[in-house]
Amino acid sequence: MKRKIIAGNYKMNKTITEVEEFLNEIKDSINVTDKEVIIFPNNLAVYSAVKLLENTNVKVGIQNISTEDSGAYTGETSAVMAKDALCTYVLCGHSERREKFSETDEIVNKKVLKCLENSLKPVICVGENLLQRQDNFHFVTVKHQVKKALKGVSKEDIENIIIAYEPIWAIGTGESATSKQADEMCKYIKEKLKEEYGEEASKIKVLYGGSVTEKTADELLNMENIDGALIGSASLKKEFVNIVNTKIVD
Ligand code: PGA
Repeated sequence: MKRKIIAGNYKMNKTITEVEEFLNEIKDSINVTDKEVIIFPNNLAVYSAVKLLENTNVKVGIQNISTEDSGAYTGETSAVMAKDALCTYVLCGHSERREKFSETDEIVNKKVLKCLENSLKPVICVGENLLQRQDNFHFVTVKHQVKKALKGVSKEDIENIIIAYEPIWAIGTGESATSKQADEMCKYIKEKLKEEYGEEASKIKVLYGGSVTEKTADELLNMENIDGALIGSASLKKEFVNIVNTKIVD
């Protein structure tokens, strides 16, 4: 069985000091071997988090990178810089970036390619909004987002890709998708990837994200097609430890 991934996206929460205090409190309890644990703190806290977690299995990622390598891009952080800060993962195309910072599928694709060029692993977020779900457009929306995000990604690179299915209506709303809805979309994504990349696609992990809590984690993480969870608000609290320690039944 694949190791499930438990990823915590801190978004724009917790200062460096708060990240350090929190990680010192929980790091022993999230230092597990049966799952892969990743945290995404704010950019300024990334390096100190890496240092603090140095002797653990917990990996650190950055929440966003630039499409460019260097130059006159005030406020941006490049993939090279993220790599130098010892990040392993990068969130690409989170719906908040798509909606609040006008990130298009083309921009997401550029970021994915930048990650791979720099040996960083992109966690590509996709997901439909409420209207799209109500109109039964959720599958086609997600299919296009995945296809566009992966444009130009070779078969060899596919094992370094993670997809996170995060329906927008479930993010930060307290209303998680049901385990059945989440599982069927993760399954669908895997089927589409298989059509594109063949058997190699089975190496891609597909996570679910959107209001995952310690109460819903057990059922979600035990679904056949869900390879892990991307967690926002519950990752800021001690509750994250319980999610990390969810029992996965073979
Ligand atoms: P949430 O956020 O768990 O607070 O809904 C998930 C995410 O945005 O990745």
